[in-house]
Amino acid sequence: MTFLIPTLFLIVLPFFPESPVWYMKKGREADARKAIIRLFGPDTNVDERIDIIRTELQQAEAEGNGKDQTSWKAIFSKENRTRTFVSVLGLQVQNFSGGYFG
Ligand SMILES: *[C@@H]1O[C@H](CO)[C@@H](O)[C@H](O)[C@H]1NC(C)=O
Ligand SMILES: *[C@@H]1O[C@H](CO)[C@@H](O)[C@H](O)[C@H]1NC(C)=O
Repeated sequence: MTFLIPTLFLIVLPFFPESPVWYMKKGREADARKAIIRLFGPDTNVDERIDIIRTELQQAEAEGNGKDQTSWKAIFSKENRTRTFVSVLGLQVQNFSGGYFG
C-alpha cells in the first residue's frame, strides 16, 4: 500500500490539466483558456474566469507577492539543499505513504 497510491499518482499526474493561473503568469492566455474549459467544462464563462485570474495576479503583483519569489536554483543549491529536503520530505513522506487514504 505504501507504494501503490504514490505509483498511481505518478501514472495519472501527467494527464492532469495545468493550472490556468500558472499559464496566465507565463503570459499564455490561449493555453489558460483551454485549461479552464478542461477544468470547468465547455459551458463555463471563460472570459469571466480569465478576468478574475488577471485581477488577482495584478493585486498580488501590487502587493509585492510576485516579485520576491526565490528560484529553483537557489532552493536546490548546495547551500540550501539539505534544508529543502529535510523540510519538504519530512512533511510529504506522511502523505506519500498513503496514510490519508486509509
Ligand atoms: C539559499 O537560500 C537563501 C534564502 O533562504 C538565499 O538568500 C540564498 O541565495 C540561497 N543560496 C544560494 C546559493 O542560492
Ligand atoms: C497531506 O494531505 C492532507 C489531506 O489531503 C493535507 O491536508 C495536508 O496539507 C497534506 N500535507 C502536506 C504536508 O502536504
